[in-house]
Amino acid sequence: MIDLRSDTVTKPTPAMRRAMAEAEVGDDVYGEDPTVNRLQERAAEIFEKEAAIFVPTGSMGNQTAVKLHTRPGQEVVIEERGHIYNFEMATMSAFSGVLARPVKSNDGSGILTWDEIASAIHAKAAYYVAPTGLVALENSHNLAGGSVLTRDRTEDICARAHEKNLPVHLDGARIFNAAAALGETVADLARPADSVMFCLSKGLGAPVGSMLLGKREFIDEARVVRKMLGGGMRQAGVLAAAGLIALEESPKILPADHAHAKLLAEGIAELPGVKIDPEKVVTNIVIFDVTGTGLSADGICAQLRERNVLASGFGSSIRMVTHYDVSRSDIESALRELRSVLAN
Ligand SMILES: Cc1ncc(COP(=O)(O)O)c(C=O)c1O
Repeated sequence: MIDLRSDTVTKPTPAMRRAMAEAEVGDDVYGEDPTVNRLQERAAEIFEKEAAIFVPTGSMGNQTAVKLHTRPGQEVVIEERGHIYNFEMATMSAFSGVLARPVKSNDGSGILTWDEIASAIHAKAAYYVAPTGLVALENSHNLAGGSVLTRDRTEDICARAHEKNLPVHLDGARIFNAAAALGETVADLARPADSVMFCLSKGLGAPVGSMLLGKREFIDEARVVRKMLGGGMRQAGVLAAAGLIALEESPKILPADHAHAKLLAEGIAELPGVKIDPEKVVTNIVIFDVTGTGLSADGICAQLRERNVLASGFGSSIRMVTHYDVSRSDIESALRELRSVLAN
């Protein structure tokens, strides 16, 4: 099987498995797991933030941040295809009592400008509308095809939000992909945001885990919220050991994933009835519209599955994601199978 559904399907490397087997552990609810502590310190160092906390999932990291930045009755301004709004089970309303205020990015890139964000912010002056409590950004933007938020744009949005006393949370599930594509450091991309979450379990290849980072006081409070959500783990060093390897070793392999995604996008662009601009594929996510093929996205995915290629259908689009378990020859095979499905 060539599994292009997501970069979450990566299996731990032999080095990760060895480190997991040999991990020094303790009870992390007591703060006594040396490997978790090491991972948290190392992540904070790399991101140049005061502190970090290990969480089981990216969703828990994001929702912990939403809880801490907002009060019930407030709104969270977010791009309309943002993960926090679309794929986190309405947790922001159920757990934090806040409402998403989705905003369309007019150029279709998923990357908002300050003006687009500003148009959705409710001024505190009008007491009869829900006030904005948070601006949530995503880098890279998953459902917008892995598009990236530049350092300049992030700095601009954060500075202007801060002028209005609004905190900014950055969903950086794939911020290492964004950094590789932009030639920036993750620290520079995350610096202006009040909090950032990134996933160890996606392109970085760890089996489980994400990190939430911010000021020390914020992370101390995050530990309480993580426990409320059932995310206090015990000998989690077994997982953190793989996370440490992911953090140190995996960022350097991401450019190869991006090159594979570009190759895939260029090949797809030549197929009949398919819409994609390969120029816009800059990280490891390839999304293409199949309306013009006369076939449904789910139908195409079902036929690909029979040919040992896995992809995800989203409405009239198909998403394919590259990762370290997919080689250049796998990409060539996937293209061959897709071409054959569309020719039938
Ligand atoms: C942009 C983005 N944010 C957050 C998450 C959530 O991560 P998790 O699946 O670990 O909850 C994902 C997962 O796909 C994602 O793509």
